[in-house]
Amino acid sequence: MSERLEDIAEAMVATGQGILAADESTGTIKKRFDQIGTENTEDNRRDYREMLFRSTEAMNYYISGVILFDETIRQKAADGTPLVELIRKAGAVPGIKVDKGAKPLAGFPGETVTEGLDGLRERLAEYYELGARFAKWRAVIDISEDDGLPSSTCIQANAHALARYAALCQEAGIVPIVEPEILMDGPTAAHDIETCYEVTEWTLNTVFSELFQMDVMLEGIVLKPNMIVPGKNAPIQAAPEEVAELTLRCLKATVPAAVPGIAFLSGGQSDELATEHLHLMNAAGSLPWKLTFSYGRALQQAALKAWGGKPENVAAAQAAFLHRAKMNGLAAKGEWQKALESA
Ligand code: 13P
Repeated sequence: MSERLEDIAEAMVATGQGILAADESTGTIKKRFDQIGTENTEDNRRDYREMLFRSTEAMNYYISGVILFDETIRQKAADGTPLVELIRKAGAVPGIKVDKGAKPLAGFPGETVTEGLDGLRERLAEYYELGARFAKWRAVIDISEDDGLPSSTCIQANAHALARYAALCQEAGIVPIVEPEILMDGPTAAHDIETCYEVTEWTLNTVFSELFQMDVMLEGIVLKPNMIVPGKNAPIQAAPEEVAELTLRCLKATVPAAVPGIAFLSGGQSDELATEHLHLMNAAGSLPWKLTFSYGRALQQAALKAWGGKPENVAAAQAAFLHRAKMNGLAAKGEWQKALESA
């Protein structure tokens, strides 16, 4: 496979394919395993992820890349094959989460800045050796209208860190996934869809300004934004058509056409809505960039439930994963239909 950043980025957003976000930290995967009553051990984490990466049809046809956590990029399957090798054999690009998480922003109660820049150059060099060809860094922006959040300091600090991360990635021959997430399920999350639009537009404009300052090559990144949705606790929820329309309007106003692709996070949307929103945007006509998925929860929830931590359920879990991967693959081409969900 080509090692040019532009080619890797293009492969990550190949038509009808998207990214599997399987980079839950040890703490986050514990929350997922708690839901199915499974102990959070290193072997269980390995078995679960090996099950996903060995889902041949899903991986071969619908998954272009997989985001891994530090532990997973070093792990071997039960038969000794490195998990990275399973991903590569399926024709997908291995990627790695490199941020160290969203930490409280000093002086700004309720807000966070994502850390992990110190030593990042050295860590990227090691991850490259381990096979990673793209990376992910997630900035988190919370809307709390009563508290006047987000602050411009929070947006600026996070955008600056994202741009410094992106520049280091490109120096290392690694495509940065640039992920500024405006939370839909934050501590209050009662904001309406217009507020999400305004904060997302503000954030994306700030992020692209910082990327320009850091001389990041836009052809060699993938943007991972939230969709424009009301907060989870908002009294008025939005029709899928409205989400699609406002998300497209916001992205067209802020994301340069030089960016090869946009891969959305699911952020707490239900599986089917995350698919329907993506479909509606792709069905709306031609766009300057590819629009696809980089889902964690919306790709894995059904599979996780079907698996339930039991080896005898592996086939059922792989079937559930294939179904979601296929539905999202179709949505990435604007070819999904509700009737296919139960077919
Ligand atoms: P969700 O799709 O569950 O939001 O996860 C995507 C992700 O990678 C968040 O950083």
